[in-house]
Amino acid sequence: MKVKRFSSMDDLYSHAVATIVEAKNNGATTFGLATGGTMEPLYAKICKTDIDFSHCISFNLDEYVGLEATHEQSYAYYMNKHLLNQKPFLASYLPDGLAVDPLVETARYEGLLQQYPLDFQLLGIGQNGHIGFNEPGTSFASLTHLVTLEESTRQANARFFSSIDEVPRQAYTMGIQSIMRAKCILLLAVGEAKREVLERLLASDYTEDVPATALSKHPNVMVLTDLQEEENKL
Ligand code: PGA
Repeated sequence: MKVKRFSSMDDLYSHAVATIVEAKNNGATTFGLATGGTMEPLYAKICKTDIDFSHCISFNLDEYVGLEATHEQSYAYYMNKHLLNQKPFLASYLPDGLAVDPLVETARYEGLLQQYPLDFQLLGIGQNGHIGFNEPGTSFASLTHLVTLEESTRQANARFFSSIDEVPRQAYTMGIQSIMRAKCILLLAVGEAKREVLERLLASDYTEDVPATALSKHPNVMVLTDLQEEENKL
C-alpha cells in the first residue's frame, strides 16, 4: 500500500483527479465510485475538467436500504448531484435501496460486477475502518450483501440527515472481495477525524477487525491523505 501525504487539500484532490485521468488513459473503462463528504471536492474538481466518461461504466460501492433514488440522502441522488448529471457515464449502477428481495438484489449487483470487472475503485474510509459499508468483522471473502450499520456509522452519517432517527439501519454494499477484484484502488483519508483509523490501517496486520486492512494484500493501492506523519508514531 503506497501512501502519499499532502499539505494542501487542493494538491491532494488534484492528484486524485490526475490518478483517475491516468487510469482512463491507460484504458480503464469501469470505475467503482464512492460517496461521502470526502468525495465531494473530488467530484467538484472532476466536473471542472474535460474528462469524458461517456464510454465508461460506473458502479457505486453501496446504497441505503429504504431510500428512493429521489431521496436527497440516497447515494443515487448524491451521485447524480455531485457527478453524473454533469459527467454522464454510458451506464451507472447502484444497488437498489428499494429492492423487494435482498438476496435477489445482491445477486443481481454482484452479477453485474462480475460481468464488468472493475478497472478502478475509489474508496473512502470510515472511522471504524469500514470500506463501502463493510463494517468491522465482515468476512474478507464477502460479496455484495445486506448489512446492518454500526451505531458509530449511523452517528457519523447523521450529519447529513435532520436527525439520527432518519439514518437508515441497513444498506447494501459491495463485499470486500468485490472491492479487492478491482485492478487499481485509490483510497482517500481526509481530515483529523480519520487520523486514528489511518494509523490503525497502516499499523495493523491483515485483520477482519479493520476491514480496510484487506487492502494490504492488494497489489495496486494508493492512499492519499492530508494527515502528516506524527513523530515516533506512524
Ligand atoms: P466520509 O465517509 O467521506 O463522509 O467521511 C467515508 C466512509 O464512511 O467511507
